[in-house]
Amino acid sequence: KSEDLKFDGKVAIVTGAGGGLGRAYALLLGKLGASVVVNDLGVSAHGQGATSSAADKVVEEIRQAGGKAVANYDSVEDGEKIVETAIKAFGRVDIIINNAGILRDKSFARMTDQDWDLVQRVHLRGTYKVTKAAWPYLTKQKYGRIINTASSVGLYGNFGQANYSTAKLGILGFSNTLALEGRKNNIFVNTIAPNAGTRMTATIWPPDMVEAFKPDYVAPFVSFLAHEACPSTGNVFEVGGGWVAQVRWQRAGGIGFPTSKALTPEDIASKIDIITNFDDGRATHPTTTQQALQQFFENFANAQKSESGQSKSKSNNSKI
Ligand code: NAI
Repeated sequence: KSEDLKFDGKVAIVTGAGGGLGRAYALLLGKLGASVVVNDLGVSAHGQGATSSAADKVVEEIRQAGGKAVANYDSVEDGEKIVETAIKAFGRVDIIINNAGILRDKSFARMTDQDWDLVQRVHLRGTYKVTKAAWPYLTKQKYGRIINTASSVGLYGNFGQANYSTAKLGILGFSNTLALEGRKNNIFVNTIAPNAGTRMTATIWPPDMVEAFKPDYVAPFVSFLAHEACPSTGNVFEVGGGWVAQVRWQRAGGIGFPTSKALTPEDIASKIDIITNFDDGRATHPTTTQQALQQFFENFANAQKSESGQSKSKSNNSKI
């Protein structure tokens, strides 16, 4: 029952919560009983300017609905200040939703170092800084829920977003490792690739789609990931417009070449159909680096075994 997913006594930090998706997360968590730090630098979609009013408005909305919230106006690049706000106001932190973001879309040919750096700093370094500052608290209390924000653009690429898609897939790599390091302390880390009508998508999507894809369709899933009852960690989900699905890697069955003779580009060319075949019933879905490496090692060991068999008979022969 949805009413069972309460957050009483829990403290959540939502970055970039002054508008769009972050605002929807903050409002819902506040409604469900969490104490919320509403962080927002109050910048434009391109990262310009700064105003406290964005965060203030959302804090006011949460309080009016009977919830608990405080504002924080620091950039996510100053993650420690945001965590400090949570500790000062509520004495703890349990949930981190790294959501703040900007766009500096340009074709790669026209992209400046500044366009590149700014996007990496806000998305990737900001996610790192907030998480890094909260991590000791989560570790000590042996509890934490972290939700990081990637993008389908990071998963699949998009014209004009080399900077952004790089940062977004970087965030997924970050999350995957933190999920492993956090598990023993009950710190769960998941990643979402959301789709919602916000000022960020308003420049690209048709108005009726912006209107239809409400952030409210994403917030319940994020709240689920933020809850103690959520069993998931180290996973990535695409979510938006009332639709949710987990995404995973798939690896073709592949081919192991003999290691006894030099491997040539022509060998590869002759087997490229097998290397790229996902439909021959041999494809797998590795979920850990160990699992992924296993096939390499097995193939190598087999190749060595058959070669040492060969070379033994060869050396025997040569003895004779
Ligand atoms: P939005 O532009 O409506 O909200 C982003 C918020 O982050 C703004 O309120 C902004 O002031 C704040 N912010 C920007 N830089 C900040 C900084 N350095 N420190 C603190 N706050 C800062 O955008 P939207 O659509 O709500 O996006 C939220 C997240 O979801 C972003 O990470 C975005 O990349 C991601 N996303 C959104 C998609 C969508 O369909 N709306 C698609 C894929 C990803």
